[in-house]
Amino acid sequence: MAVKKGTPKIVIQGGGRLAGELSVQGAKNSILPLLSATVLCQGESVLHNCPNLSDADAACRILNCLGCKCAREGKSISVNSKEVLNTDVPKDLMREMRSSIVFLGAILGRTHQCKLTFPGGCELGPRPIDLHVMALRKMGVNIEEKGGFLNCNAPKGIQGANISLALPSVGATENIILAAVTAKGTTEIHNAAREPEITDLAEFLNKCGAKISGAGTGTVIIEGVEQLGGAEHTVISDRIVAATYLCCAAITRGELVLKNVDYRHISAVLPVLEQMGCRIYTYDDNKIYINAKKQLRAPYKITTSAHPGFPTDAQPMFMALASTLEGTTMFVETIFDNRFRHAEGFSRLGAKITVSDRVAVVEGTDKLTGADLEATDLRGGAALITAALFAQKTSTITGITHIDRGYDDIVGNLKKIGANIKNA
Ligand code: EPZ
Repeated sequence: MAVKKGTPKIVIQGGGRLAGELSVQGAKNSILPLLSATVLCQGESVLHNCPNLSDADAACRILNCLGCKCAREGKSISVNSKEVLNTDVPKDLMREMRSSIVFLGAILGRTHQCKLTFPGGCELGPRPIDLHVMALRKMGVNIEEKGGFLNCNAPKGIQGANISLALPSVGATENIILAAVTAKGTTEIHNAAREPEITDLAEFLNKCGAKISGAGTGTVIIEGVEQLGGAEHTVISDRIVAATYLCCAAITRGELVLKNVDYRHISAVLPVLEQMGCRIYTYDDNKIYINAKKQLRAPYKITTSAHPGFPTDAQPMFMALASTLEGTTMFVETIFDNRFRHAEGFSRLGAKITVSDRVAVVEGTDKLTGADLEATDLRGGAALITAALFAQKTSTITGITHIDRGYDDIVGNLKKIGANIKNA
C-alpha cells in the first residue's frame, strides 16, 4: 500500500506487554447529544469532562452557526443559547459528522423549523433515518426530503405523541426526546434505546427543567414543559474507550487499572474477557483492574446487540484480540451492515479471518507481523492499533483522522502504559 510521503500516521513497534493505569475520557456518544440539547436551553449550560475530539469540535461549530455561543475551556464546554438565530445546519458541517442528525430534534424543539442535509452515509454502510422521520412526523413536523435536504417545520408547534420504534435506534430515541421536552403534551417512546448515553442526556435535560422518566429502559415518557433553563453537567465516561484499553491490555497479555469508568456500562464486555481467561476486578465504583498474564483462549462466539447486549462499537477491538487467542471465535454483527472492514487490516498482519455477510470466523494465531495499515472508520482504526500492539516488528496506521473523532490522545495514553507507539 503506497503511503503518500508526509501522510500523518501512527507507528507501533508491537510485542511489548502493557502495564499501568489510565483515566477514561468522557463519552463521545454522550457529549454529542448533550451539546445538541443545549440548543433547547434559554440560558447558559456548562458541560464538564468533555474529551478533546474532532467530533466534539464539529458539534461546537454547528452550535456557533446556530447563534449559540459555544466555548471550550480545558475539559469544560460552555454554551449560551439565549438566542438561536439560525435554524439551518450548514451542509459542510452536516457532512463532517453523520451524528449531527441529532441536532434536528433540538432545533425543532426550540424553533419549530429546521433545514439540514441528509446525513452522509459512512463506513458502516447506509445510515438511514427513517425512524427519526417517522417519529417527528407523528409529532406534527412536516418533513420534505428534496435534493438531499430535509426541510422541516411544525406550524402548530411540536405535539406529544405515542411512538413505537421498529428497532431501538440510539439516534432516533435521542431526537424524539429532544423534540418532545418542550412539546405540547406527553410523548411515550416504546422500544426505546437503553444505552447509558440516553440516561445521561435525560439527566442533563431534567436538570434544565425537563420532565423525562424511564430513560435507560425500553419505555421513555416525556411530559412537555414550557421552556428549559441552562444547567451544569458532567459527561459520563466513555464505555467504548474503556473497552478499547481493556483489549489493548489483554492482547499484550499485560495488566491495567482503568479509573473513572462505570463498569455497569460495559457489563456485557467484562464476562467475555473473563471467558477468555482474563482476571477482572471492579472496585471503588469507578475502577476496573484487568490481568491477562496467563494463556488466553477464544470465547467461541460474540454476537453484538443493542444495550445492554454486547456493544457493536467494541466488536472491532475484540476481533483484534480474538485473532491472537488459541481457538476459533465467531462474530455475529446484528447492528450494522458493513462492520467487518477492519478484518482486511488484521489479515495484512497475518490473522486468519473469514467474513460472510454479518458473520466473521476468526482462527486465532500466536504470530502476527507488523504491516502498513489504513483506518477506514473510528472503531476499526482503534482495532488496528490494538492488533498492531501484539504484532511483531513495526506497523504504521494512516487514516488517523478517523481515530481522532472518538479517542482523546490514544497515542499518549498507550505510551503512558508502556506501548512503543508514536505519531509520525
Ligand atoms: C449510535 O449511532 C452511535 N453513535 C454509534 O456509535 C453506535 O454504533 C450506534 O448508536 C449503535 O449503538 C452515536 O451515538 C453518535 P442507531 P446511531 O440509530 O444512532 C439502523 C461509534 O463508533 N437505523 O442505533 O446512528 C441503523 O442503520 C458510533 O461511536 C435505521 O434503520 O445508531 C443501524 O443499522 C458508530 N433507521 C441500527 O439501526 C433509523 O432511522 C442502529 O442504528 C435509524 C437507525
